[in-house]
Amino acid sequence: MTARETLRLELGARSYDIVVGTGLLADSGALVAAVVKQKRAIIVTDETVAKLHLERLRSGLDRAGIAHRAIVLPPGEGTKDFAHFSRLCEDVLALGLERITPLIALGGGVIGDLTGFAAATLLRGVDYVQVPTTLLAQVDSSVGGKTGIDSAHGKNMIGAFHQPVLVLADIDTLATLPRRELLAGYAEVVKYGLVRDRGFFEWLEGAGAALVAGDIDARRRAVLTSCAAKAAVVAIDERETGDRQLLNLGHTFGHALESETGFGDALLHGEAVALGIRLAFDLSAQLGLCPAAAASRVRAHYQAVGLPVALSQVANGKRFDPAALLEAMAHDKKVRDGKITLILARDIGDAFVSREVERATLESFLAAETLAPPPAAARR
Ligand SMILES: NC(=O)c1ccc[n+]([C@@H]2O[C@H](COP(=O)([O-])OP(=O)(O)OC[C@H]3O[C@@H](n4cnc5c(N)ncnc54)[C@H](O)[C@@H]3O)[C@@H](O)[C@H]2O)c1
Repeated sequence: MTARETLRLELGARSYDIVVGTGLLADSGALVAAVVKQKRAIIVTDETVAKLHLERLRSGLDRAGIAHRAIVLPPGEGTKDFAHFSRLCEDVLALGLERITPLIALGGGVIGDLTGFAAATLLRGVDYVQVPTTLLAQVDSSVGGKTGIDSAHGKNMIGAFHQPVLVLADIDTLATLPRRELLAGYAEVVKYGLVRDRGFFEWLEGAGAALVAGDIDARRRAVLTSCAAKAAVVAIDERETGDRQLLNLGHTFGHALESETGFGDALLHGEAVALGIRLAFDLSAQLGLCPAAAASRVRAHYQAVGLPVALSQVANGKRFDPAALLEAMAHDKKVRDGKITLILARDIGDAFVSREVERATLESFLAAETLAPPPAAARR
C-alpha cells in the first residue's frame, strides 16, 4: 500500500514536482521516466545509503527500462570538497555522460549538494533528480536548487543555483536513519512553523514525539508541509534576495557554532540550527521584539524531542569563545556591507530579517550564552 502526494514548485520552464510518500523507490522508474530525456541515468550515492537503499532504486529503474550506473562515494561532509567533486565529474564523464543523461542523487544533503553542483557544471548543465534519504534533505536541501561544495574559506562557498527536474522524498527511507540524524532534520521541520506557520508549530508540539519515534503519517505530513512551505518561498524568491532569507532562521548563529566545532560529527548542521533558532528567539525576546513566552516555547519543544538548547551541551566540556563566535558570524555569506544579517522573530510564525543588531549587543548576548549551564534534564 503506497500513499503519496505531489507538490509543484512553480518556476516557469524550471518548474518541477516534489513527490512525498511511501514506496517511491520501488516506483522510481515510472516517476523518473516521465521527466527525463534519456532512458539511462547515473546514480550518485554514498556507501551507507548504497547498502540500505540503492538496490530498491535500481530495481525501480529497471522496471521502467531505465539503464543505470552508480557512483558510490564515502559518507560525510568531507565528501563535499573539491577533490571529491573533481573525481565525481571525471567518473561521470568516464561513464559516457551525454547532455540528455540525468544524474540521480540518492542520499542526504551532502550527496544532493555535490551531485546538484556536478549537474550544474558538467557539459554546462545536465538534468538531475533528487532522491533525498535524510529528513534534512527531504524537508530542505533537496528542494530549491541550491547546490555546492565547501571550501577552506567556509561551507557551501562554491556552488550554483541549479534546480532538479524532480524530487522523490520516500518516507520509508527514514526508517534506517539514526535517531541523531533524524533529530537534526527535525530542527529544520520546526523552522517552517517558526518562520511563517504558527499552526504547524502547534501541531508539531503535539505530534513531534510520535514523528521522531517513527509514525509514518506524522512524518509524511511534516515533510509535505515543509516542502510546500519551501516550494512557496523558492517560487517567489529563487535567488534569496527577499523572503527566502527567512529560511535562514537560526543559521547565522548555527554556522558560527559549526565553524567553531569543525563542521563535523561534534555538532551536526541540524543540531546547530536548533541551537541557532533558540538563540534567535531568545535574542529577539531580550531585545523586546518578541514575547518571552514564545522563546520559552521554542526552547521547550526542541528540548522535549532531545535537541540541544544550551551551548554548554555541545561545547565538549570547553566553553565557546564569544569573540570567536562573533568573528565567525561576521564571515557569514549573508554579511552585507559588513553588517551581520540575522533572522529574528516577533512571535512564533512571524520571522523577519534584521541588520540592526549592534556587534556589541551580540557579543554580550553570546558571552552570557556561553556561560549558561546545560538544562537540568539534558541528554548529554
Ligand atoms: N542545498 C541546500 O539548500 C541545503 C540546505 C540545508 C543543508 N544543506 C547541506 O546538507 C548537508 C547535510 O545534509 P544531511 O544532514 O542530509 O547530511 P548527510 O548527507 O551527510 O547525511 C547524514 C548521514 O546519514 C547517512 N544517511 C543518509 N540517508 C540515510 C538513511 N536513509 N539511513 C541511514 N543513514 C543515512 C549518510 O550516509 C550520512 O552519514 C550539509 O552539507 C548542508 O550544507 C544544503
